[in-house]
Amino acid sequence: MFTVKVPATSANLGPGFDTLGLALNLFLQVDVNLSGHTNKIIWQGEGKDTIVEQIDNNLLLAAMNKVFQEAEIDIPGLSLTIMNDIPIGKGLGSSAAAITAGLLAANKILQERFSNHDLLKWAVQMEGHADNVVPAFNGGLTTSMLHDGEVYFQKINFPADIDLVLVVPDFEVPTEKSRQLLPQTIDLQDMVSNLQRACYILASVSNGDFRYLDKAMDDVIFQPVRQRSIPGFKQVLQKAKDAGALGAAISGSGPSLIAITREKDKVGRAMQKAFSQYGVESHLFFLKACGQGAKVE
Ligand code: HSE
Repeated sequence: MFTVKVPATSANLGPGFDTLGLALNLFLQVDVNLSGHTNKIIWQGEGKDTIVEQIDNNLLLAAMNKVFQEAEIDIPGLSLTIMNDIPIGKGLGSSAAAITAGLLAANKILQERFSNHDLLKWAVQMEGHADNVVPAFNGGLTTSMLHDGEVYFQKINFPADIDLVLVVPDFEVPTEKSRQLLPQTIDLQDMVSNLQRACYILASVSNGDFRYLDKAMDDVIFQPVRQRSIPGFKQVLQKAKDAGALGAAISGSGPSLIAITREKDKVGRAMQKAFSQYGVESHLFFLKACGQGAKVE
C-alpha cells in the first residue's frame, strides 16, 4: 500500500494567467492498494456525493489510465481510498490535484517507469494549462513556460510568515465556462500592464518586499471579465485591502478569491461579510503556502 498526497493550488495571482501558481497546504490524499481483479473506490470529503456517480469521467482514473496506456500494460485491480479536502470547481486546482495524483499513483505501481518530466507533460496535456499542475507537482510559487511542446518551470519559495486567505463562495464556475468568457484579442497596452505586474509579483515574493503587491495583482485583462460572474467582487476585494490584505485576486478561474496577508482573521471576516451583503454565502480557508509538492509515501 502507498499514499499519494497532492496540494491544492491557486493559479494566476491576478495577471499571471496560465503562468503563475502557488501550492497551498490543503490536500487530496489517495491510498492505493493492489487488490487483484476487483476495483473499489471510496471517496471521502469534497465531491463525495457527486464524484462516484460520475466515476466514468473521473480525472484521477483517466490519469492512471493514461500512464498504463503509455506503458502498454493493462491497469490492475485497485482499491483506492480518496480523502479530498480541496473544494471542487472553485478555482483551487482540484482537477490538477486529481490528475497529478492519478499520474503519480500509476507511475508508482509501474515502479517509476516514467520520469517526472513525462508525467508533468501529460498533466499539462490533460489539464490544458500548466499553472496549476506545476505547483501541484513541485510546491512553492511556480512560473511555467511551454516551449515547443515541453514544460519548463522555475520555483521560488513563498514566505512562511505570510497567510493566504481563500474565500470560497457557495456557487461553482467551471473553468471551461470561465475561459469561454475571455477576450480573443488583447489591447497592447493591457498586455504590457499585465506583463509588468506578473513579473513584479515574482520579484516582490523573491525579495520579500510586498509594498506594492496590491497593484501588481491588479489584473486588467481577465478579472474585469470574470468578475461579472462573482457578485460583489469589487467590494469584496476593496474590503480585503482595507482590512490589511497585501494583495488579492480571483483564485484560478474563480469563483474563489485569494488574499495574501499578515492579518488573516480581519481580512477573512471582512471578505466574508462583504460577500454576504451580496447574498453570497462563503467558506473561509486560512492557509499557508505549501513548500513541497506532491508526495508518494
Ligand atoms: N489559468 C487558468 C484560468 C487556471 O485562469 O483559466 C484555471 O484554474
